Amino acid sequence: MIREVVRMGDVRLQRAAQPVDPAMFNTPELDALLQDMRETMRVEGGIGIAAPQIGVPLRVVVLGMEQNERYPEAPPVPYTELINPVWTPLGETMEEAWEGCLSLPGLRGVVPRYVRLRYEGFDARGRHVACDVEGFHARVVQHECDHLDGVLFPMRMRDMSRFGFADVLFPEISA
Ligand code: NI
Repeated sequence: MIREVVRMGDVRLQRAAQPVDPAMFNTPELDALLQDMRETMRVEGGIGIAAPQIGVPLRVVVLGMEQNERYPEAPPVPYTELINPVWTPLGETMEEAWEGCLSLPGLRGVVPRYVRLRYEGFDARGRHVACDVEGFHARVVQHECDHLDGVLFPMRMRDMSRFGFADVLFPEISA
């Protein structure tokens, strides 16, 4: 089911989400949540979505895309469902790039993120997963995991002069 995406300003995006209890692994309830997140992400044209963005205060994120018209330059990110994710940077290198968010429709900002990281978590069946990722994929993981701690991308920005509406910033793409 396609769910309404909660927008910035709503307190549901500002709270830390709760860990998924292991008893919820491999249940229709968790599968339904993941399906709703996947459908909502795809219909909204997102690259990732976190459960708090559909008003569910649980530590669940979904990411992935093959081609995204909002990010034509971006490399593919494999479809991934992550429960109770944690990540650690691999190295100290950070880079800045434009980000958007389904909870801030039409807005873009330049956000510094770690270039490489290792994430861990669980899949819907409760199996442990771990993966080293870099670049755009690593950026999406950091952005989505931030949602689980009530952090939205503008809160990570260093230069608010590079924050604005996509159609103003990039008229050639929107035209
Ligand atoms: Ni977001």
